Amino acid sequence: MSALPALPLPPTDAQPLPDARLRLLAELTQGLDAGALLYVSGYAAGLAAAQRRGLLPAQAGGRAHEETPGLQRPRATVLHASQTGNGRRIAEALLATLEARGLAARAVAAGDYAVRELAQERLLYLIASTHGDGDPPEDARAFFDFLLGRKAPGLKGLRYAVLALGDSGYPKFCEAGRIADERLAALGATALAPRVDCDVDFGAASAAWSDTALRHALDILKPGGDEPRLASVSPLRAPAPSVATRDAPVVAEVLVRQRITGRASDHPVTHLEIAAPADRLAYEPGDAAGIWHHNPDFIVARIAEMLKLDLTASVACGGEERTLGEWLMHHREITRLSRPVLEAHARRSGAPALEALVRGGAQARAAALRDWQLLDLLEAHAADWTAGDLVAALRPLAPRLYSIASSRSEVGDELHLTVAAVDYRRHGARRVGAASHFLASEAPALRVYIEPNTRFRLPADGDRDIIMIGAGTGIAPYRGFLQERGVAGARGRNWLIFGARRLAGDFLYQAEWLAARKRGLLHRLDFAASRDGAWKVYVQDRLREHGAELWRWIEGGASLYVCGDAARLAPAVHAALADVVRTHGGHAQDSAQACLDELVSARRYLRDVY
Ligand SMILES: Cc1cc2nc3c(=O)[nH]c(=O)nc-3n(C[C@H](O)[C@H](O)[C@H](O)COP(=O)(O)OP(=O)(O)OC[C@H]3O[C@@H](n4cnc5c(N)ncnc54)[C@H](O)[C@@H]3O)c2cc1C
Ligand SMILES: Cc1cc2nc3c(=O)[nH]c(=O)nc-3n(C[C@H](O)[C@H](O)[C@H](O)COP(=O)(O)O)c2cc1C
Repeated sequence: MSALPALPLPPTDAQPLPDARLRLLAELTQGLDAGALLYVSGYAAGLAAAQRRGLLPAQAGGRAHEETPGLQRPRATVLHASQTGNGRRIAEALLATLEARGLAARAVAAGDYAVRELAQERLLYLIASTHGDGDPPEDARAFFDFLLGRKAPGLKGLRYAVLALGDSGYPKFCEAGRIADERLAALGATALAPRVDCDVDFGAASAAWSDTALRHALDILKPGGDEPRLASVSPLRAPAPSVATRDAPVVAEVLVRQRITGRASDHPVTHLEIAAPADRLAYEPGDAAGIWHHNPDFIVARIAEMLKLDLTASVACGGEERTLGEWLMHHREITRLSRPVLEAHARRSGAPALEALVRGGAQARAAALRDWQLLDLLEAHAADWTAGDLVAALRPLAPRLYSIASSRSEVGDELHLTVAAVDYRRHGARRVGAASHFLASEAPALRVYIEPNTRFRLPADGDRDIIMIGAGTGIAPYRGFLQERGVAGARGRNWLIFGARRLAGDFLYQAEWLAARKRGLLHRLDFAASRDGAWKVYVQDRLREHGAELWRWIEGGASLYVCGDAARLAPAVHAALADVVRTHGGHAQDSAQACLDELVSARRYLRDVY
């Protein structure tokens, strides 16, 4: 192919690059032939797609950061505060729709958003999920702090809409979205439509919200007028069809399935190794794998028996028809209880205790929703259900996430998982968690996709020390971290502080950690056993015990990681870290918190808790 002459560049107010970047672009493309130009364009489109998926942070120097208000054309910003990917996917889909209609738009993760730009926004779509106990996602804390803080600007010129994601099983349902919505209004912004609060089966509600968002954007941004139009979605921008997604997972072979807790342990954990072709299941240490499971047949059979329903009967729901057995096995949540099912069952049974629970305090209801399975409800309070009503009331089956416990650089085309069994007895009957039971069973292949977690990453600088704090399966990502650092020859030190019930039996991957210690790859290892001996010792106790050393590592620039239980571990570790900062860093109560906040902002205190 022959080299093409350089094209004149478009006028600066019709393109999104500052002059300096434009000159670089002209220089780069000068004299390239068509093949090379297509390569550059594909490379840039790939970067844009990765940025939209949150795999790359929005780069300083892009239009998000360099446009001056005078040069801006009206544009929609789709801001997503998402932790487990649901909100991010909705934002990406909305962005693709807006762009396909020729509207100027961008999608930004709240963690990458330059908050000073808020004052210049004219059209904002905020998609915010709630985590922890009514908190915003980890990555979005700084955005929420800014929005709720005294420095938040007046937003009279802003029009916005909020989509809140949550789970009505929690007492503070959709709290983060609600708070953001109210604050935006208080700052003078105009809501284009009432906020939509979505429960776990958010598909229909979020699609309707996105439709409304598109209508408003068409109205406000008016494509095809005087404003320059963006091209509609080009094939180069579409994600490669082979990459696994939540809706199109890869069927991956299970290569190894092995129990890794000892016989003495009453808490079985399974280690899985799964074939992971790089083009379809690309991941980095810190990411999670999404797994589609199916429900245990003995639970399906027991539900049918209790309700005297025929599993072979045909049931139509949402335009689809299948047998009741298929619905319950593959398409509905039957181990997690939802609020609509609890309420419907209370009505059907007329049981006063249940009605009181439904009408009563949020905490008691949340505890029931957290601890009871559908079978517990059916066994405690009899009620009649038809097959059709049951299928319509139960939530669609959702995949479960598992932290990836490996690094490609060590294991090649595989990904490893560490799965704790949810397996217990209630009133003498066996109860299991659907996905963990499925993963520990004989299934030879799994339907898998990758859920990127860009906020839980190793420091780019391999010379930095890292401190990995976790309990139980919270150890999983650290195995990947250490593998990655080992292969890369990172010179920073690695410290693992890990808690489990007993040293004998529950110290996951013990042999590997000890071998790494011997090789000099793991520089410190502290174990906390909560059920060995007379004293219960937890990781937070170890943090305080080794506070002076911990503080030295932090002062020396170490990154802190916390992974595992969100309800107890994360707050207890946070309190212990604050104590360490106070005691050894000489901070007062307030400034200790400020110091931890700074570590969060600097991405040196990272949490992946669930
Ligand atoms: C980002 C992320 C990463 C994760 N990483 C991991 C990981 O690396 N390893 C891992 O094992 N898990 C991990 N999890 C948790 C995992 O996704 C599942 O939630 C977990 O395996 C349980 O799912 P399940 O389908 O087995 O149970 P479900 O079927 O969802 O739940 C069973 C039900 O049983 C009840 N129940 C559960 N436990 C008990 C109990 N002990 N006593 C009484 N009742 C109970 C509750 O009612 C619960 O709703 C992660 C979660 C997230 C969000
Ligand atoms: C550990 C954890 C805590 C949660 N806490 C809440 C909560 O307090 N209130 C709520 O409404 N939803 C809560 N949820 C539900 C999430 O908001 C819901 O799953 C949402 O779809 C997640 O969206 P995301 O993937 O964009 O983060 C919680 C979910 C998890 C995993």
